[in-house]
Amino acid sequence: MNIDGKAWRTIWLEPDGRPGGHAIGVIDQTLLPHQFTTRSLRSCEEAAESIRSMVVRGAPLIGVTGAYGLMLALQADPSDPALAAAFEQLNATRPTAVNLRWALERVRARVQPLPPAERAEAAKAEAAAIAEEDVAMGEAIGDHGLQIFQQLAAARPPGRQHEPFQVLTHCNAGWLATVDWGTALAPIYKAHRAGLNIHVWVDETRPRNQGASLTAWELGREGVPHTVIVDNAGGHLMQHGQVDAVIVGTDRTTRRGDVCNKIGTYLKALAAHDNNVPFYVALPASTIDWTIDDGVAEIPIEARSAEEVTLIQGRLASGPAAGELATVQLSPDGSPGFNPAFDVTPARLVTGLITERGVAAASEAGLRELYSRG
Ligand code: MRU
Repeated sequence: MNIDGKAWRTIWLEPDGRPGGHAIGVIDQTLLPHQFTTRSLRSCEEAAESIRSMVVRGAPLIGVTGAYGLMLALQADPSDPALAAAFEQLNATRPTAVNLRWALERVRARVQPLPPAERAEAAKAEAAAIAEEDVAMGEAIGDHGLQIFQQLAAARPPGRQHEPFQVLTHCNAGWLATVDWGTALAPIYKAHRAGLNIHVWVDETRPRNQGASLTAWELGREGVPHTVIVDNAGGHLMQHGQVDAVIVGTDRTTRRGDVCNKIGTYLKALAAHDNNVPFYVALPASTIDWTIDDGVAEIPIEARSAEEVTLIQGRLASGPAAGELATVQLSPDGSPGFNPAFDVTPARLVTGLITERGVAAASEAGLRELYSRG
């Protein structure tokens, strides 16, 4: 997608200065929206740390970063023990998004049967294939989601046809969370480019503020009209007819269609259900965990640092250091924080799953109908 008219992806290969060697280039998402900085990751340890610290984040992107992380490990040491250690190191960085394990398993399956000397090159090819597939899946999700938006917009009463089509989203499921296009934001970009008069309510998404800092930034770069709201405003807007559809991404979707996404998503789904607002979830196949059924009982929920709750980062708006990035404390000394990073929305609250293959009912039958075709 575009930054100041220039097309970017979130991850790319760079020469590392050694013959045939590669580093990974990424955008440092911890500094957005106030600073646009790229980083070069040169080792498996650096790739793992970038996932853990959320320099890169979003389920599909951490999968691709993990895949390239295995390439970095194999460039340094292509032996079986090194492969096993790198797999474990990368897989342990973040527990909830299933894309990470899926991408690591895919690269490991490709390289393990090969002689060690061929492994780094094969890992590079597999990681690149995963990245390209992610872009294609994001674009296809965008096309399927666009059709839904067009149908919902056309179904509004004649007196509302001139108003913007109002979409609410939570967290960041845009191109920054993937390689390009995004999942939940892909239909929004497609709709905007197709000329649909669309406006996006952007949940700030405490505690890391992926909405206020990343979604708002992305939409702004693409010229999509949007407004940042506090996480608690969505229910009120839905009660007052100001939301035509909710669309979010997912970090893991069970085979029966339960959806695990950023903390707070479940509350939006409840409010949408209560107000008859369609609640869609956009996802690529790599986010489906066919091994589990009950998301609430079975998906591991990442507990992140309490400091993400008690502290907040931003740009100083005034004072002698105005413009500089700073971290400030929100809560009193001694008050503990608790920070579950994801929650699960049961399938019964999901209107439909927008995938690269089309739209499925949030049920095992719905998903199997799309994915048993091979
Ligand atoms: O903790 P994060 O920022 O990695 O969480 C990201 C999300 O929850 C996204 O909505 C999710 O990965 C789905 S999207 C592409």
